[in-house]
Amino acid sequence: GDIESGATIFAGNCAACHAGGNNVIAAEKTLRKEALDSYLAGGRKESSVVTQVTNGKNAMPAFGGRLSDEEIGDVAAYVIDQANGDKW
Ligand code: HEM
Repeated sequence: GDIESGATIFAGNCAACHAGGNNVIAAEKTLRKEALDSYLAGGRKESSVVTQVTNGKNAMPAFGGRLSDEEIGDVAAYVIDQANGDKW
């Protein structure tokens, strides 16, 4: 995925709930390393983010059909890069 494109997609589709890598609905389920290790199904990797974004989970909506597979891959690459680099 293209991280730079992912940043733009994140700002438009994710930041409402995840600004700064936080989570306004489920406060502990942030997008930081330790939270992804603890809560993200499949663990802290791009393919796990792709699955969650495509299908949604609990109060998080599904983006499959709203974002293309390429866009979802890009935003997943961005989220993992941010987490791995402690950039949030
Ligand atoms: C969880 C990414 C949009 C609400 C997560 C997680 C990721 C993620 C990776 C797992 C975090 C963790 O378990 O620690 C994204 C991306 C989005 C997006 C990339 C945009 C494409 C949204 C939006 C909302 C939202 C718009 C609110 C309307 C939530 C909630 C959870 C969550 C409530 C916790 C789900 C659970 O395990 O119960 N998100 N998200 N997300 N997200 Fe999003």
